[in-house]
Amino acid sequence: MKVLVTGGLGFIGSHTVVELQNEGYQVVIIDNLSNSSLDVLKGIVAISGKTPIFEKLDLKDKVQVQTFFKQHQDIQGVIHFAASKAVGESVEKPLLYYENNINTLVYVLQELEKLNVSNFIFSSSCTVYAQADVMPITEGAPIKMAESPYGNTKQIGEEIIQDTCKVNAKIKAISLRYFNPIGAHESAIIGELPIGVPQNLIPYIMQTAAGIREELSVFGDDYPTIDGTCIRDYIHVVDVAKAHVIALQRLLKNKNTSNFEVFNLGTGTGSSVLEVIQAFEKVTNQKLNYKIVNRRSGDVVSAYADTTKANEVLGWKAQYNLEDAILSSWQWQKSLNAV
Ligand code: WQD
Repeated sequence: MKVLVTGGLGFIGSHTVVELQNEGYQVVIIDNLSNSSLDVLKGIVAISGKTPIFEKLDLKDKVQVQTFFKQHQDIQGVIHFAASKAVGESVEKPLLYYENNINTLVYVLQELEKLNVSNFIFSSSCTVYAQADVMPITEGAPIKMAESPYGNTKQIGEEIIQDTCKVNAKIKAISLRYFNPIGAHESAIIGELPIGVPQNLIPYIMQTAAGIREELSVFGDDYPTIDGTCIRDYIHVVDVAKAHVIALQRLLKNKNTSNFEVFNLGTGTGSSVLEVIQAFEKVTNQKLNYKIVNRRSGDVVSAYADTTKANEVLGWKAQYNLEDAILSSWQWQKSLNAV
């Protein structure tokens, strides 16, 4: 069974390729290497003992996409990760995000319309909820005005898929709305590879502890939360990867109840920034150097998932907790330092 994984050398994509190969799928990766490297491909092979087909290709080039699908008419499913994902950068460069996140999705869907079988898994984000009014957040929470072009591309992406599925019964789709994926494979051979100064909390903590960064800046401790810092649902990337395999199998076995379904992927537990720091210090037995600074614009106060639908309908539940994920991130950081 051949499965296409776009952005398959990225953080979540690479962990998903490992889980797909563990389940016996033949994987084809498309990646333009703009935010990843071929070392990740070597890591996937080292972990799973199998070599996926890899095509370096830019999905923004419609002709390249058409040529690719002509050569791979036997694809049974697509997991679409390829997108730019830095919230702050999207504010600075909106057109780059609309081109890279929307055009590519349209070109892939246009090719799926030509195939006989098409099962499509979309990489979405809790960002589509912006600041939800009620915690935990269910899939029925209202989709509010996006707070960044990145978040808007995920909202628009879901609408494009839903409209396509409405008129093309052959295309069945599941959109997975991740909360905050963190951590790394237990082998410490693959993990998150932030380019430049990390924008996200966990990689910044790891680089601070590794001495690469001077100290962590905590963006505000005057929010209306238990300790004044923002709350998020940090979910292990391997749990997120396994959910993609389960979602694909749901479509392959025609278990979906509509041809566009949405699931939140979270642990259901919210953790504040200070609680994450305390968890890091506990699992690594070392102090973290940090200071409180002003709030970061665009941050929501709190976001954590209601996992009922994923647990009961998708049949998936996160197996790792925050400390497991943090420890795996630290082991990955130490393996990077050892290079
Ligand atoms: C988490 C918390 C920060 C860095 C983003 C995207 C989301 C998804 C995950 C793609 C916040 C605080 C952070 C730092 C800090 N990406 N923080 N100091 O913003 O919840 O989500 O990444 O899908 O779409 O929006 O994650 O890790 O950046 O921030 O205090 O140096 O950590 O203020 O409260 P975020 P994050």
